[in-house]
Amino acid sequence: MPTAFSCQYPPGLQADVGRRLQKEANWLLRECGVADHHLAVRLVDDAEMSRLNGLYRHQAKPTNVLAFPLVDWADSAAGNADATATLAGLPLRELGDIVISTDTARREAAELGENPGRRLSRLLTHGLLHLLGYDHERSREDEEEMLGREEALLGRLNQYRRTMMTTLAVNVDHIATIRQARGGREPDPVAAAAICELAGAAGIVVHLREDRRHIQDRDVHLLRQTIKSRLNLEMGANREIIAIALDLQPDIVTLVPEKREELTTEGGLDVAGQKKKIGKVVEKMGKAGIPVSIFADPEEGQLRAARDIGATFVELHTGHYSDAGNEEGQLHELRLIAEAARMAGELGLRVYAGHGLNYRNTAAVAALEGIEELSIGHAIIAHAAFVGLDQAVREMLAIVRHGSLSL
Ligand code: PXP
Repeated sequence: MPTAFSCQYPPGLQADVGRRLQKEANWLLRECGVADHHLAVRLVDDAEMSRLNGLYRHQAKPTNVLAFPLVDWADSAAGNADATATLAGLPLRELGDIVISTDTARREAAELGENPGRRLSRLLTHGLLHLLGYDHERSREDEEEMLGREEALLGRLNQYRRTMMTTLAVNVDHIATIRQARGGREPDPVAAAAICELAGAAGIVVHLREDRRHIQDRDVHLLRQTIKSRLNLEMGANREIIAIALDLQPDIVTLVPEKREELTTEGGLDVAGQKKKIGKVVEKMGKAGIPVSIFADPEEGQLRAARDIGATFVELHTGHYSDAGNEEGQLHELRLIAEAARMAGELGLRVYAGHGLNYRNTAAVAALEGIEELSIGHAIIAHAAFVGLDQAVREMLAIVRHGSLSL
């Protein structure tokens, strides 16, 4: 998409706020018919805002938003040619700069009792309308026109937000792991699934392993009968399990690599290296009306192979991101996931992500564009031991839904 965005974070501001604003800025550019324009957004603190306000408006005090247009809309309907720039090989016109003070945004939000994220969205929309030639200071009519447009855009932006909200699927394998430790009946993953659904999970995930170390055949059959959201059956491309899946008819099948000696799934499926074998499984599932997701490392070759064999979804492996030893490594892995999500979308694949996500590292992944659902197990079940399953799911859901909305 020929939209672009740049963002300068003041120290301490979470990068996911910038990413969420980027999604919204891209949406706003499209909605306002200027998706072929480049917009620069800077998030700054009050000190920097006072400096800029003094320099350009002779008012050396903080303000919430400043807009610096580069297009003279009165000059030509499409913007003047002088503002044309070439970015990444695409002829993008420069729309201008929007500078937002996050300190002032936060203060105003507290005064107005508004969500700080919503305040940022409003300031972004306000700044953009200025870049598009609206000016509430010109006259009463101009003020009404600009504020009317702003409210209308924010209303639609809220609807868009709902559609772009990432959902949570809970993996209940570890409930079964605890049960199997004593070989009895409790705790029951079927009961756990019902609690997860009531707490807001959009799907339940179980991995029926060849060695049946946690989930049992009885579990998947009862889950199929009782789950009201979506049953996602994780499985290796193994003949016995394929037959069970075809009989069970889960809502989705996720193909993963499976080794008996591993503690948990260790990496994405090498679909590029075994296209024929995996392609046959996808074909069988397709004939039975079961969409297939491929658990894949965030690599172009794997995504292309998943598309080539007719998978509907890819679940991007977030394990390397979760395991990264330092912030730099984590950021690098996050960028790979973001790039893979974008690429998968362009290839026509729907995108899920998961593995190793927890209460600290999930918000940044949830804020990435194009990821529909996160599949999370261990962290939720571990937290449930202290706070209860209902509470553990709700806390994770809040992070998935709103983690990127807070300043
Ligand atoms: N996605 C896949 C494909 C998995 O194999 C697992 C682990 O069973 C998960 C997600 C969930 O990982 P975690 O338990 O670390 O949240």
